[in-house]
Amino acid sequence: MARATQAIIDLHALRENYRLAKQRASNSRAYAVIKANAYGHGMLTIANALSMDADGFAVACLDEAVALREAGILLPILVLEGAMDSNECQVAFDLDLELAVHQQQQLHWITLAKGSIKVWIKVDTGMHRLGFAVQDVPAVVSDLRLQSNVSQIHLMSHFSCADEIGHPFNQVQLDQMHTLSPMKLPWSMSNSAALLTLPSSHGESVRPGIMLYGASPIVGSTGQDFDLQAVMTLQSEVIAMNSLKAGESVGYGRSFTASRDTQIAVVAIGYGDGYPRSAKAGTPVLIKGKKCPLVGRVSMDMLTVDVTEANVQLGDTVTLWGTGLSADEVATHCNTLSYELFCRLTSRVKFQYLGR
Ligand SMILES: Cc1ncc(COP(=O)(O)O)c(C=O)c1O
Repeated sequence: MARATQAIIDLHALRENYRLAKQRASNSRAYAVIKANAYGHGMLTIANALSMDADGFAVACLDEAVALREAGILLPILVLEGAMDSNECQVAFDLDLELAVHQQQQLHWITLAKGSIKVWIKVDTGMHRLGFAVQDVPAVVSDLRLQSNVSQIHLMSHFSCADEIGHPFNQVQLDQMHTLSPMKLPWSMSNSAALLTLPSSHGESVRPGIMLYGASPIVGSTGQDFDLQAVMTLQSEVIAMNSLKAGESVGYGRSFTASRDTQIAVVAIGYGDGYPRSAKAGTPVLIKGKKCPLVGRVSMDMLTVDVTEANVQLGDTVTLWGTGLSADEVATHCNTLSYELFCRLTSRVKFQYLGR
């Protein structure tokens, strides 16, 4: 029998989450952020699943955009980091992509390119990662307005603290963007967190990512708190049962020693599949609808769970995260975010798509 470790991707839930994003930002276009293999969910399948609904897609780099066009995706595609050289810039023109520009060199490459393109000027409103300083933007706009190969100009920026509701820096960044409103250009600032909690940031278009996959962008909450549905359910199965006597230990380093007679389920998933080795003792896993605590160290191919309080048998299905156990909750036990849990799954995990 094959190893049961698999990620089940619910495309119906994905479309519902996109619909919710559109409802919450009803006057904005929504570019679904599907970079990094759609946050580990499988970029091409996710793009196809959203292609009837989405206003556009956003990816990080040209390779991702090219893969989408080669797969026949015709919707607008925004490349968030823009072109990396003049060749990439010309390919973006040729494939009718939309390019972010965040530095002078990229402006120069645009002057050299043939065709026509929509440009998103990245404005640094305080993140200090990518973008032109607010005071430099009017000159950049003037330059681009002189380019006959630039069909449209948009402004975009990115929040640094939108995951904390009411963080004062969110308003500081919004105010910075608003200083550019006399230019009357369409603008975009909202990631999932801002889309859900800061309506004044919606602008002409929004860029939801993590919420489409059903996880929460807000610290200390779960996707369910925002009526989002889990898209990825990561599952495996119990491949061995062990009875430990009080004082016996399990796994590498003997990091768990039983304080009482303990039933241990061995589950066929480990860090070789992308389940984090950093998962602490007590990280929940779901078996037969019951949350059971992980104990001992996560190894490459297996992890161990204390199932003394549950009626667990060999072959039982185990949910590591997904429906019934939020990735947000698991991530908290691993000192990380759902984003990273999703992105780090390895090629050993089989993907099954529901609702194509
Ligand atoms: C520029 C930009 N916009 C939007 C997003 C989507 O963010 P989120 O997944 O938090 O919605 C990202 C993600 O990193 C991003 O880099």
